Amino acid sequence: MKAVVYRKYGPPDVLKLEEVPRPVPNDGEVLVKVHAASLNAYDWHLLRADPFLVRLMGGGLLKPKSTILGTDIAGRVEAIGGKVKQFQPADEVFGDTSAAGNGGFAEYVSVPERFLAPKPVNLSFEEAAAVPMAAVTALQGLRDKGKIQPGHHVLINGSSGGVGTFAVQIAKWFGAEVTAVCSTGKMDLARSLGADHVIDYTKEDFTRNSRRYDLIFAANGYHPIAAYKRALAPGGVYVVAGGSMAQMNQAMLMGPLMSLVGGKKMGIMVAKPSQKDLMILKELLEAGKVVPVIDRQYPLVEIPEALRYLQEGHARGKVIIAVAG
Ligand SMILES: NC(=O)c1ccc[n+]([C@@H]2O[C@H](COP(=O)([O-])OP(=O)(O)OC[C@H]3O[C@@H](n4cnc5c(N)ncnc54)[C@H](OP(=O)(O)O)[C@@H]3O)[C@@H](O)[C@H]2O)c1
Repeated sequence: MKAVVYRKYGPPDVLKLEEVPRPVPNDGEVLVKVHAASLNAYDWHLLRADPFLVRLMGGGLLKPKSTILGTDIAGRVEAIGGKVKQFQPADEVFGDTSAAGNGGFAEYVSVPERFLAPKPVNLSFEEAAAVPMAAVTALQGLRDKGKIQPGHHVLINGSSGGVGTFAVQIAKWFGAEVTAVCSTGKMDLARSLGADHVIDYTKEDFTRNSRRYDLIFAANGYHPIAAYKRALAPGGVYVVAGGSMAQMNQAMLMGPLMSLVGGKKMGIMVAKPSQKDLMILKELLEAGKVVPVIDRQYPLVEIPEALRYLQEGHARGKVIIAVAG
């Protein structure tokens, strides 16, 4: 099969399109013919081993352990391993392969069935591939860490990227009053996703106005953690999913201490692939409550270019890789 392979850490140029053996599904695994994949910042963190922690946390100390990137996939079941209960050949599925070593930048990938769910019937493979990691991150960040409630005033910083476009819609579905923060050219997008208020971060610093939020979900950008705390209402929660390394480090190191005083919770989240959450999202997508926003689409061979684009940090929704027709 064709796959985009990397045998050493580095910039997108280390990725090569190669012929490699097709995986064989083990017990509990499903072989998926990949129709589409989507990019996540996670892919280039693994590609570059940046942060260095990637090497220590199972990525491979000197060179990558798994040589095919690609977390989010949508495709058709080609074959099943022993003991697979939920899927059969020809089923259409989508899922997040990050906990199983990735492998989505290829014509086939073998994935434990617990990381897959039936593809939403109303979505194309490209639209379905946009969903898993970004939407599950938004859902888990708002619901599990953020304890979102109807009527909450919720601010999404970084509202126009992969995670943010889902976060705005999911927060609306929870019944929150949503403020989206993005740049000038993306304000219309945020409004079209249901945001009640939109702040242009190039013109206004939301941490310096008088509004206060019950929940701030930071998907991108940077503000010092003290500024986020200032922008929270009494009892408010700040959840950081992504953004600059400084932002992540501050939340990880100082968040627990800052949560001890002042009655506000400050913390970081790490999303976990979840079949249950994919099923929740499938329902929301089929009901039209959540719609994937697709920025661009690239063929498999142009993954290096696609990753360079994503790493610029200004995608409008998700970047898709069309693998098979
Ligand atoms: N914790 C987890 O488990 C988890 C899971 C998934 C992703 N993440 C992290 O979450 C972050 C976001 O992921 P993503 O897929 O949404 O990335 P993305 O698609 O690359 O995000 C791009 C968006 O970020 C916005 N942005 C850039 N600078 C900004 C700023 N200063 N203020 C507000 N928005 C800004 C851009 O909007 P403009 O063009 O308008 O600037 C663009 O729309 C990444 O750091 C990723 O590593 C974490």
